[in-house]
Amino acid sequence: MNAIDKAGTFRLGSRNVKRIGYGAMQLAGPGVFGPPKDRAAAVAVLRAAVESGVDHIDTSDFYGPYVTNQIIREALHPYGDDLLIVTKVGAKRGPDASWAPALSAAELAQAVHDNLRHLGLDVLEVVNLRSAFGLHGPGEGSLEEPITVLAELQQQGLIRHIGLSNVTARQVEEGRRICPIVCVQNQYNLARREDDALVDQLARNGTAYVPFFPLGGFTPLQSNVLTQVAAQIGATPMQVALAWLLQRSPNLLLIPGTSSLAHLHENLAVAALRLPANAAAQLDQAAASAATP
Ligand SMILES: NC(=O)c1ccc[n+]([C@@H]2O[C@H](COP(=O)([O-])OP(=O)(O)OC[C@H]3O[C@@H](n4cnc5c(N)ncnc54)[C@H](OP(=O)(O)O)[C@@H]3O)[C@@H](O)[C@H]2O)c1
Repeated sequence: MNAIDKAGTFRLGSRNVKRIGYGAMQLAGPGVFGPPKDRAAAVAVLRAAVESGVDHIDTSDFYGPYVTNQIIREALHPYGDDLLIVTKVGAKRGPDASWAPALSAAELAQAVHDNLRHLGLDVLEVVNLRSAFGLHGPGEGSLEEPITVLAELQQQGLIRHIGLSNVTARQVEEGRRICPIVCVQNQYNLARREDDALVDQLARNGTAYVPFFPLGGFTPLQSNVLTQVAAQIGATPMQVALAWLLQRSPNLLLIPGTSSLAHLHENLAVAALRLPANAAAQLDQAAASAATP
């Protein structure tokens, strides 16, 4: 038994995965572009994650582009039977590091084949379709065409399960009319709670919700309450932010990203952290006021 088992598991596609996993985006170079400064260190972080019991890694060919998937393959291939690698499609990178939507049938098929090759897999266990409606978060618009393309690739046996990213509740419903949707990956953390209702709705029907930027992403979370609670329970503020997510709802699967071994171990140690009731209440209150426009 690993220490991270203490956080329990939740269903993701065909598997039960541990509630603390790992997000690989931070392994690419600055701006999620190009190679990392220290490739050996990136390989070491991935190996340490799996040795510590991580069985869920989130990635994409957007990262680098291609770099993160290639490092995952170098570090971990051949993969253990219990390792679930989740990737995403629907965007591409320009030579200037820009991000652009890539949602045509040809681009999606290419992305699936690229991910298979870069990761060294015959089938992608879970593929998230990353929506590009909305500038700073999910925006409404039909995803019927790209989801139908992914469902066809699923029928061809290239994808086992389909998830959605950066989407609204309406788009999740639209997706469900086309194929089963096993997870939603949206931005959500102590300070960004626009998805509160969606988290609860997905929990009721047993669907995983995987928050991206659980620690604030490019703008790390900072708040007096986090600092106070951390001091009170002998943890770091980032650990408290992750512990709050774990206790928020049983369908939340965490994928904190880090390029640092020390931060990796700090994040995984959250599995054993319990927030006292008064601390949880303080954080909830702070989170609710942060969510009030
Ligand atoms: N679907 C989407 O559109 C989407 C978008 C963004 C991300 N994602 C996925 O979500 C994952 C998580 O998001 P993220 O990595 O961008 O953001 P995050 O997990 O919120 O935060 C990562 C940042 O926090 C730092 N950090 C990590 N652990 C720390 C600790 N214990 N103490 C202090 N600092 C710490 C990291 O720096 P160090 O490297 O120095 O630790 C990095 O700067 C990504 O890896 C990616 O797989 C998906």
